[in-house]
Amino acid sequence: MLENAILLTGAGQRLGYYHAERILERGWPLIATFRTLRPSIEQLATRGAVIIQADLSTPEGIEHLLDKVKAKASSLRAIIHNASFWPTDVELALDPSGFEALMNLHVRAPWRLNDALTPLLQATTARFADIIHITDTTIAKGSARRAAYIASKAALDSLTRSFAARLAPKVKVNSLAPGLILFNEGDDEAYKQDRLSRSALGYEPGPAVVWQAIEFFLDNGFITGQSLAVDGGRNVR
Ligand SMILES: NC(=O)c1ccc[n+]([C@@H]2O[C@H](COP(=O)([O-])OP(=O)(O)OC[C@H]3O[C@@H](n4cnc5c(N)ncnc54)[C@H](OP(=O)(O)O)[C@@H]3O)[C@@H](O)[C@H]2O)c1
Repeated sequence: MLENAILLTGAGQRLGYYHAERILERGWPLIATFRTLRPSIEQLATRGAVIIQADLSTPEGIEHLLDKVKAKASSLRAIIHNASFWPTDVELALDPSGFEALMNLHVRAPWRLNDALTPLLQATTARFADIIHITDTTIAKGSARRAAYIASKAALDSLTRSFAARLAPKVKVNSLAPGLILFNEGDDEAYKQDRLSRSALGYEPGPAVVWQAIEFFLDNGFITGQSLAVDGGRNVR
């Protein structure tokens, strides 16, 4: 059984994979979840991570993950809720089944995992355990094109303060609200320029800036119930 493990959802690509590698570099036992089996996930397993396949867009998938984590770990140092679905097809955000999937992934899964895994977080031998919700800076403004996605991330942001109150003083609960971090394959030049123009710093930073913020929360002993925008200064643009 793993002790003081970090549970990271959506570890198979892009930001999640970057964070998974950094967690292993720091020597923390890692439980990495994925939906699609990729070479990246197999590499994490080769390097010692426990990998668990789970589709978090359904209640059954969430319960499956819970059972697997309880079978693999006796204590957790942190949970990082990174798994996310970005509806590139704008209409999907308006489809009822798409809405439900987004709510399950971004709200029900963190809510259920935080609650059911509280005993494992309380059991860490570290001074604190952490829960980190990865939200989205656009929740401050809303989105005409992706109302359901943004609503689900806003609900996740709200869970931050509720769980911070519920789980103190052992467990700190914070959220990170990224802006444009990494473009998706297929984003066209006009879209890219529009997104870049929305931040004061105006560039595509890549995953390191989010990992630095995750480490900041993990290493800091006096911050809970907060949301930190990692967005290059969208509010001053
Ligand atoms: N990239 C940005 O510029 C940006 C901007 C704002 C916010 N964020 C937030 O930062 C986080 C990481 O971003 P990213 O761009 O790296 O995300 P991403 O490329 O979309 O990857 C998200 C991960 O979530 C997993 N996932 C999707 N649907 C799932 C489901 N139903 N069940 C379980 N896992 C599922 C995917 O798993 P599989 O690969 O296994 O299918 C994928 O590995 C996300 O929370 C995102 O909302 C990112």
